Amino acid sequence: MLKQVLISTAGFLFATAVSLSPAMAGGEAEVLHWWTSGGEAAALKVLKDDFAGNGGTWKDMPVAGGGGDAAMQTLKARVVAVDPPTAAQIKGDSLLSAQVANHMKCDGFTKYCAAPVNIHRIDWFWANKKVLDAHGLTMPTSWDEFNAAASKLQAAGIIPLAHGSQPWQDATVFEAVALGVGGNEFYQKAIVELNMDALSGATMVKVFDQMRTLQGFTDEGAPGRDWNVATGMVMEGKAAFQIMGDWAKGEFTNAGLKPGIDYYCLPTPSDHGYLYNVDSFIFYSMDGKSKIEGQKLLGSLMMGKNFQKVFNLYKGSIPARLDVPMDEFDMCAKGSAADLNYSAMTGGLQPSFAHGMALRLAQKGAIQDVVTEHFNSNMSSHEATRRLAQAVKASL
Ligand code: BGC
Repeated sequence: MLKQVLISTAGFLFATAVSLSPAMAGGEAEVLHWWTSGGEAAALKVLKDDFAGNGGTWKDMPVAGGGGDAAMQTLKARVVAVDPPTAAQIKGDSLLSAQVANHMKCDGFTKYCAAPVNIHRIDWFWANKKVLDAHGLTMPTSWDEFNAAASKLQAAGIIPLAHGSQPWQDATVFEAVALGVGGNEFYQKAIVELNMDALSGATMVKVFDQMRTLQGFTDEGAPGRDWNVATGMVMEGKAAFQIMGDWAKGEFTNAGLKPGIDYYCLPTPSDHGYLYNVDSFIFYSMDGKSKIEGQKLLGSLMMGKNFQKVFNLYKGSIPARLDVPMDEFDMCAKGSAADLNYSAMTGGLQPSFAHGMALRLAQKGAIQDVVTEHFNSNMSSHEATRRLAQAVKASL
């Protein structure tokens, strides 16, 4: 069980904070997070309500911006000013698979740093069922099939791919394509190990080719669009598909829509790959009884079995705890849990770089910058590949 919470972010290491015991009544917590979309807010409300129900006082500190880049800037500034929030949403990850648990430990992988609340899968297609049905299409199981379906939809006046071209969204699509077009070993070498041959080779060129093809399936309004607005386009049938992590399912759920009836979910094509991303909360070393009680209460609630079920039903993700029954979850979540186990056994379970699970900030930034520059220009795939290897090299 999660017994201790250490504090570590952006290279700042704080003293050991609290040890979590069963929920204590009361306490206060200022919680920094980036869950501001409809589905995200509905999921967070589960925690807010549990906290209040146990006598806690919640001070909300939302920082809008999908993917959390803006929130991380705010968190860094607060930490530098030695004014950290009581708890902050971060990336990383335990009653958990060994791979996920490693993200949650610091100090030479011996002590836990933060409480993990979920496992999000990144590599998903979301699609409007009516639109696909009306055009005689089924969910694509290869990238070529996707390209053919998207071309058909485009010819019929439908936006094939709802997308918001913000750097983190471009990177989200890129990593799904890299895993799918390149394969598990390629992803591991290029994106996790930053192997120069993989970063600069012919397979990477193919990955950028597919990115260019995808870009051609987006609409003129894509640059800068928020991810949840893009999900809304799929819900309304203005667009057919979105490639996005399963927080997108939180939006469908929040709108009362059901998988298999209103929309489809299917992993993007790959050789049983699975890109994971874990949301966690980090607890900072605090003075003051009330704040420490607030941390204890929050930590114990977050790691509770029932919370991990209810929260994830809203959030679109699956529980980080491995012992939560999945029977109340929908087909997408059940599929995600089954695939996670299978991929873990067969080498396909890979960390998301776009969501801070694979690389340090400098390397993540180097890749993301090139990916988004390529996507939002007419840069050739060869040039993008050359720049990618160069940027990663310079960042090491
Ligand atoms: C987080 C999700 C969040 C998404 C969009 C991801 O990085 O892990 O919890 O819903 O960004 O904001």
